[in-house]
Parts: sequence; structure tokens; C-alpha cells
Amino acid sequence: MALEAIRYSRGSLQILDQLLLPQRSCYEAVGSVRQAWEDIRAMKVRGAPAIALVGCLSLAVELQAGAGGPGLDALVAFVREALSFLVTARPTAVNMARVARQLADAAAREAEREGATEETVRERVIRCAEDMLEKDLRDNRSIGDLGAQHLLEKAAPGGGKVTVLTHCNTGALATSGYGTALGVIRSLHRLGRLERALCTETRPYNQGARLTAFELVYEQIPATLIADSAAAAAMAQRGVSAVVVGADRVVANGDTANKVGTYQLAIAAKHHGIPFYVAAPSSSCDLCLETGREIVIEERPGQELTDVSGVRVAAPGIEVWNPAFDVTPHDLITGGIITEMGVFAPEELRAALNATASVGTL
Ligand code: MRU
Repeated sequence: MALEAIRYSRGSLQILDQLLLPQRSCYEAVGSVRQAWEDIRAMKVRGAPAIALVGCLSLAVELQAGAGGPGLDALVAFVREALSFLVTARPTAVNMARVARQLADAAAREAEREGATEETVRERVIRCAEDMLEKDLRDNRSIGDLGAQHLLEKAAPGGGKVTVLTHCNTGALATSGYGTALGVIRSLHRLGRLERALCTETRPYNQGARLTAFELVYEQIPATLIADSAAAAAMAQRGVSAVVVGADRVVANGDTANKVGTYQLAIAAKHHGIPFYVAAPSSSCDLCLETGREIVIEERPGQELTDVSGVRVAAPGIEVWNPAFDVTPHDLITGGIITEMGVFAPEELRAALNATASVGTL
């Protein structure tokens, strides 16, 4: 059975509580936007695409139960406010902001249509959210296949298998299914061309060790867990063919925000002459920001660094800086940015997105 972070059917939304993995697999019902916000903030669900989908689908569930109104204006305002609230749960990824804008626009447009009723507005928003779930899965499969093909041409032109180092959590647990960077690894494995994936432990809550490693084992993909601080040594000694990571926001010049530690991986990859790829759907791209300096980087509570499973391990009194993400400058993304539309050099991304209506703008 495929691993699912999100289980949705009309009127019902469940998420796999990722704070409990890998020890326990428990699904929790999400019945409201407020609850989705809390679950996102607490990291019961995480990963930019999964966060956006859970946000939208929680609104769909509320609307299905008749929330909003009475009256079209009140209903549209309810939708807009619920979405604005969801955007505040976590600031770095662009995905929730993008879908919020799309759903709010859909509600407003439907309400202006002659003959619109509360039912048609609710139906329009629910249908849009459901379409987003399906599109994410389609996009991930394209990212996986296009990325695998490109990576093999670049890193193993003469044939043979590749070893891929990945960082962060980008599989089915972080998306609607299949995954982005992990989708590339999945496709390489399916093609019989993956020697091994190396996954880093990452934070918060040892994301890579708990979630990415869990998914790799679940999928029976040959994989080895390494400490984040072992990545440069692995590049020097373990025959890493390419690095593939996800992204929470890719801006106009190709700079990319991703799980903290990505930047140092890109520097190490450049030093070793190893291609460095970012795999992300176009919905993670934000042409409204020009460079990575404009991206708001979420800072998480110090306790996530000082404590392990609720037990303090850090020296009492130590000050903590705990950014959840960092920015990788575009010139370090030497392999390319893998999207569902193709693989682009960072400097080609803007034009590629602009050529596709509405993809790059918020
Ligand atoms: O803090 P998280 O778990 O939400 O961080 C998510 C990531 O690790 C990103 O790499 C991810 O959003 C990329 S998109 C699949």
C-alpha cells in the first residue's frame, strides 16, 4: 500500500501524525481550518506541498459542512479570511500562499457569476481544492521521471547506477504522493539505475532520520542514513553521483529556500564537482521575489534543538538559533531545477515560468 500523508474524500480529511512516526502510524481527523493550522504549526503534517493541501482541504471540509455565509459576500469573506489565517501557520514555503490566492479568487469569481448561490460558491472552492490534490500527484510523477532522466544523462552518461545524496523530507509524506526529490530517487530505483540513496538526519525533530528514512525503508529503496555533518565526507568517500533536494520557495533568480543545511551541501557539492539539483513543482516557485534575500526564513523554538523526545540534552542556559530553512544561491544549483515542466538552469527558470500562464505569479 502506498504511504499516504493525507487521506481525503469529500467531507473527510485525515492526516498521518508525523510527530509519532516511525514508532506509530496514526491518522488524525482534521475537521476545521483552525485544527489544520495547529497541526501544521506543530509539524504533525509538514513539507510545503502537504501543508498547502491540508490547509485547502480543511477549508473544503468546513465548506462541505455548510460553513460560511449567510449570503454570498459573507461566504467569500469567510473563505478569504480562513485562507489568510492558514498562510500564517508557516512563513517560508510559498505553496500555501499560492493556493490561498487561487481559492480566494475562485470563490470571488464564482460569487460574481450570474445565478451564483452559496452552494455553487462552496462547490467551486471544494472542487478547486480537490483538483490541487490531483495535480500535485501528477506533477510529482513528472518531476520524478524528468529528474531521473536528466540526472542519468548528466551523472552516468555511459550507463550504470548512481548514488544520490538527499536532504530534507520530500517524499509521499511531504506531498500528495510520490514526492519531489524523493520522487526522483523513486524513479531512478524503478528504472533499476539507483545504487543507493544517502539521506541526512535533518531537523527539526530529526526529520530525515525519522521520516525520509522511514519512507525509503517502506519503499525498499537501498538507502543509508548519515549525519548532516557527514555529507562532505560522503561526497569525498562514498561515490556520490548527484545531490537532489526539495524546495520550499524558488525565487525569480533561481535562489532557493529549503531545509536548513541545504546551503552547506550545495557548497560541498560544488567543491567536489558533483551536480546539485533542486526538485520542486512550479507551485513552489515565486516570481514576486527577485532574490533569496527577500525570503522570510522561519525560526523554530529553541526547544526543538535542545530537547530530544521531550528530554533536554543541551547544556542548561545555552542560547539557541534555530532557523528551519536556509537559502541556496542559484550559482550553486549546478545540476538544475527539476520541475514538472522540465529541468531548467536557475537563470532559465523565470522565462520558463512566464511562458506558462499564471504559474510564476502569486
Ligand atoms: O520543516 P518541514 O518538514 O516542513 O520542511 C520541509 C522540507 O524538508 C522541504 O524540503 C520540503 O518542503 C520540500 S517540498 C517536498
